[in-house]
Amino acid sequence: MSSATDQSTAAGEPEHQAAYPPPAEFAANAIAQAGLYDEADADRLAFWAKQARELQWETDFADTLDWSNAPFAKWFVGGELNVAANCIDRHVDAGNGDRVAIHWIGEPGDSRDITYSDLLAEVSKAANYFTEIGLEPGDRVAVYMPMVPEAIVTILACARLGLPHSVVFAGFSAGALRSRVDDASAKLVVTTDGQYRRGEPAPLKSAVDEALGTGDDAAKSVEKVLVVKRTGHDPDLNWVDGRDVWWHETVAEAADTHSYKAFDAEHPLFLLYTSGTTGKPKGILHTSGGYLTQINYTFRNVFDHRPESDVFWCGADIGWVTGHSYLVYGPLSNGATEIVYEGTPNSPNEHRHFEIIEKHKVTTYYIAPTLIRTFMKWGREIPDAHDLTSIRLLGSVGEPINPEAWRWYRDVIGANRSPIVDTWWQTETGAMMISPLPGVTETKPGSAMRPLPGISAKIVDDDGNAVADGEQGYLVLDEPWPAMLRGIWGDDERFKETYWSRFAKQGWYFAGDGARYDSDGALWVLGRIDDVMNVSGHRISTSEVESALVNHHGVAEAAVIGASDETTGQGIVAFVILRGSTTDTGDELIKELKAQVSKDISPIAKPREIYVVPELPKTRSGKIMRRLLKDVAEGRELGDTSTLVDPTVFENIRKKK
Ligand code: WTA
Repeated sequence: MSSATDQSTAAGEPEHQAAYPPPAEFAANAIAQAGLYDEADADRLAFWAKQARELQWETDFADTLDWSNAPFAKWFVGGELNVAANCIDRHVDAGNGDRVAIHWIGEPGDSRDITYSDLLAEVSKAANYFTEIGLEPGDRVAVYMPMVPEAIVTILACARLGLPHSVVFAGFSAGALRSRVDDASAKLVVTTDGQYRRGEPAPLKSAVDEALGTGDDAAKSVEKVLVVKRTGHDPDLNWVDGRDVWWHETVAEAADTHSYKAFDAEHPLFLLYTSGTTGKPKGILHTSGGYLTQINYTFRNVFDHRPESDVFWCGADIGWVTGHSYLVYGPLSNGATEIVYEGTPNSPNEHRHFEIIEKHKVTTYYIAPTLIRTFMKWGREIPDAHDLTSIRLLGSVGEPINPEAWRWYRDVIGANRSPIVDTWWQTETGAMMISPLPGVTETKPGSAMRPLPGISAKIVDDDGNAVADGEQGYLVLDEPWPAMLRGIWGDDERFKETYWSRFAKQGWYFAGDGARYDSDGALWVLGRIDDVMNVSGHRISTSEVESALVNHHGVAEAAVIGASDETTGQGIVAFVILRGSTTDTGDELIKELKAQVSKDISPIAKPREIYVVPELPKTRSGKIMRRLLKDVAEGRELGDTSTLVDPTVFENIRKKK
């Protein structure tokens, strides 16, 4: 089908997409059979209790759910477990210590195979060292690392000791790291000297130094900075005596056995900061028992995972929730063998991912639509040059996938036979929520199909009434789920306001996405309806970028929108008004503004385009009309301008564009 057809379907006729039934042999042998939906519908809580008991509990739970203090949930009340033991010791104890947990592949070509026994020894060493420096259950640890094995070891050592980790994407700026370290009062920061990016070593610890500051400006909570030597390329590491220690001189020297303690099911497991509609990122809090239950269950059933024969690969970075859930906790709690790749897909060339799939006989491949569209741009001759027949299941996550990319993915990467699971979920949901089950649910290009067994979702209008099939509404989750966020770190009010106030009467969770059902009952997620952009599957708030822009001395006001982008889903477009005193309005200024955003947030938040304009379209109450700016950026006729104070602003903006 042509892309023109895709556009017309995206505009309103999704049901005309042909459905793909589950392949017969897949259906016959799949782990998840159709009965799973019925079982969950019959008794949702009993269903989740059964899923929870797939884990190893040190103390069994008494109650499945306590929702009496909604929206603050308690799952598996009274139960005690150790999350790390579920991810490691359990498999070693079952005689699978020699199974490879992680095939790690470094960007420059170095590699390590780490078995479950190796992982147990490494995590034990880190746990022993963390204990030695006085960390106590509940203390927070910030992790600012590229995709090296020590990052996963650190995360698991934190889980083992009940130290909530806060992983900060290593592409974030020093400023972003500092605000997260401060917000969580982290005592330990774990990092590397540098990281490889597109074939070149780049410093990383220097950003930690800048973030943590010195003297009066020093981050007060931080006692130690633990540094893994990754590149060895940074000649002037600014070593702060007493604060900074090398991993190879401390953790590596610690004892390699460690006996773990059990923690309450609701013990905090991690914080992960994500963008909301205001400039300040939210520390999303996840706890232990419920999170691990849903992660373990979704990984096994949605990926139809067989630990003895499958090789799983999730392309996400540990800095995002997908990396937490389906690169660390999901695969390892299931005893999987997985790929962890440090670098970019085109380093040293565009064949990299396909070489890895071929060499390690990857069976299950889980990536974001942005990467699929990038592969499409590079051309099918690249994957076609490799034997990809090991692949039997494909996954998509992070943003809506357009039907054209979906079909290409299935045909070219999946040999026109592998089912695709398009999985909708969020940092807040912790685990997959809406997705086909590969042996049961038919699939349609671009649809996430239906809520997973045990999950309940609705599409409603402003008043909470279900919308008719084919009509767009708000996606809400009308029943609590085990991996749900337990709050925003230190801000209960914001938690209630952001997610639970819109449909307070009904007590529903408001996801922030628009969605609709087609006439076959397939669910289509249409993307964010709030001021959150989705660029290459990364969540960035418009106001975060706006405040970075006005941090530049030349800018008086800024408005930022996400405009549709062929490759990245959305691209960031900024409109700025300059201060009267600014004389430079040319390329140099635009460059400076882009650099300002990179520095304040991250290169991933850098606007694709910046327009200097004389004024911004505003309503009478002074609100910027982003919807109209989006029309301009996407080259459309202007929508409704009736609430605009001064319609002539657009002529001025267009002239500048
Ligand atoms: C979007 C990533 C359509 C959505 C796991 C959501 C999707 C936001 C899909 C969460 C999908 C994620 N189809 N949209 N399969 N998956 N999204 O927190 O807008 O980084 O609200 O979690 O990504 O992004 P987050």
